[in-house]
Amino acid sequence: MNIVGGNWKMNGDLASSETLAAELRRSLGSHHGAEAVVFPPAAFLVQVQRKLAGSSVGVGVQDIHPYAKGAYTSGISAPMAASAGATWTLVGHSERRTWFGDSDARVAEKLHAALEHGLKPILCIGETLDERQSGRTVDVLRRQLDTALDGLTAAALGDLVLAYEPVWAIGTGVTASPQQAQETHASVRAHVTSGLGDAFARALRIQYGGSVKPHNAAELMACPDIDGALVGGASLKALDFTSIVRAASKQ
Ligand code: 13P
Repeated sequence: MNIVGGNWKMNGDLASSETLAAELRRSLGSHHGAEAVVFPPAAFLVQVQRKLAGSSVGVGVQDIHPYAKGAYTSGISAPMAASAGATWTLVGHSERRTWFGDSDARVAEKLHAALEHGLKPILCIGETLDERQSGRTVDVLRRQLDTALDGLTAAALGDLVLAYEPVWAIGTGVTASPQQAQETHASVRAHVTSGLGDAFARALRIQYGGSVKPHNAAELMACPDIDGALVGGASLKALDFTSIVRAASKQ
C-alpha cells in the first residue's frame, strides 16, 4: 500500500495544528486506500495525536535524538516521542542535515534509536542541485544509504520506509519529473537489493518528496518504483493533503 507523509515542519501554532488534525480526521480518518501519517511540530504532538487517535491517520515526529535520555538540552528521544503518541519518525531530513548539521553517521545513530525503541522510521535521502548537475546523484544516495543501513539486517529494518527528496525540489515549486524520479527510485531499489536482498527491496516503500502537490501527485505515484509521497507545504492544507492521499490510493 502506498504511504503518504505530511511533514508540517516548523509551521502553525497549537490552534491551527488541532484544526488541521480535526479536518484530516474528517476527510481521511476512515480512509484505507493508502497509508497516511502526519508529522506535526513536536510541541503539538500530544494534542494532534489526541485529535487523530483511533483514526487511520498515523502520527510521527520530525526528528529524534540518538540517545534515550540524558543531559542533551532540547533533545527529544525516541522513547519520549513514543510515550507522547508517535508511532513514526522522520530520520535524516535534508533540513536536519543542512540546518542542524546531521551527518550521515548521526543519521545512522538516529535510525538505530528509532528501531530500538519501536518507532517506524522514514529515512530521507537526497542530493543537492550541485551534486545532481555534476553527475554525483547515485553516489551521494548510495553513501547516505550505506552509512545509515550499515550493520542492519532486513529483519531489523522491518517497516522501514525510504523517502527520496532531491534537495533542489524541496519548497522550491520545482518537482523532479516523473522520469527523473522513477529513474532515481529504481537505482535506489537496485542498490537496496544488492545489500538486503530481493524480497526486502521489492517490499520496501520509497516515497518521493519535493514540491508534491495535488496536480502532480498522481503522475509521480503512477511510476512503478514510487510508492507514495512525503509532502511539505501542501500537507498544511487539509484539502490538498487529502487529495494527495486519495491520488496515492488509486495507484
Ligand atoms: P515541500 O513539499 O514543501 O517541497 O517539502 C518537501 C519535504 O521536505 C517533505 O519532507
